[in-house]
Amino acid sequence: MDTVTDLQTRALAEISASDSLQQLDELRVRYLGKKGEITAQLKSLGSMEPDQRRSFGQAVNAVRDALNQAINARRKALETEALEQKLLSEKVDVTLPGRGEQRGGLHPVTMAMERAISIFTRLGFDVATGPEVEDDHYNFESLNFPPHHPARAMHDTFYFGDGRLLRTHTSPVQIRVMEKSDPPYRIIAPGKVYRSDSDQTHTPMFHQVEGLLVGRNVSMADLKGVLHTFVNAFFERSLAVRFRPSYFPFTEPSAEVDIGWEKGDGSESGWLEILGCGMVHPNVLRGCGVDPEEFTGYAFGMGVERMAMLRYGVTDLRQFFENDLEFLRQFH
Ligand code: DAH
Repeated sequence: MDTVTDLQTRALAEISASDSLQQLDELRVRYLGKKGEITAQLKSLGSMEPDQRRSFGQAVNAVRDALNQAINARRKALETEALEQKLLSEKVDVTLPGRGEQRGGLHPVTMAMERAISIFTRLGFDVATGPEVEDDHYNFESLNFPPHHPARAMHDTFYFGDGRLLRTHTSPVQIRVMEKSDPPYRIIAPGKVYRSDSDQTHTPMFHQVEGLLVGRNVSMADLKGVLHTFVNAFFERSLAVRFRPSYFPFTEPSAEVDIGWEKGDGSESGWLEILGCGMVHPNVLRGCGVDPEEFTGYAFGMGVERMAMLRYGVTDLRQFFENDLEFLRQFH
């Protein structure tokens, strides 16, 4: 009996002194395992007298239960301690300064596009969009390009072979806007356009911003005022502007707009053409159900890459599409 009591005292002391789960498990095996000390005591019961066996057996069982209880309690305590340690070691100091991640930036063509959009938005224009895959009706026919008209040849169109094509300009958005609702209209349409053309100054995909304003008593003077205001705002200086007579099937009269450009940043000086414009052709209005006797309007279209080159002093169009980070980072 004394041995068993000593055993319990010693075991309990060791259990409460154990400071790791592994050490605790070793104790469990040492006392309660198949070859453990308590198990050995239980085995010794077989060689005892019956009444001795009962009292001794009860005592050993009580010790075994006490040790089991103590081990479980100690295990819980150690596990809680380990969890707290883990949480403490994984704690993040949110006040530490960052590691200086590199920040990306907008592409110069995107910057020029957003700049144009924000200027026209301030002038009261809404942004409209249309699909890049169009058909002959929207890209040509409704814009007053009759079948076999030579102006179609200027567009180097990508055809899909099933009647669909990649839009060669953003002008079809004019038609989609006018078909959908009644005048007045005051929209710009920024987006990608495609032409089968590739050399120093042309890429098969480029960007345009289209403009359309239709209402009562709209005149060419309004067009001149808006475009002059736009170019001065876009380039942040007071520029000379020249309207040169031109031809587009969907406008009459038509003009190309030149700006007076000073040399100094490597670009050419003199008059530089930057956009096409005109008064919306009566045939175009009529085709969209708008009465040209009641409503007049103007339209314009410009190439965004060209505007970006002039504004940022880029001399080679191809740099916009080479993804050279040294080049692109200059615009951040
Ligand atoms: N769509 C023409 C082009 O891509 C540009 C243009 C010219 C648009 C005159 C217009 C306009 O709206 O009135 O070359």
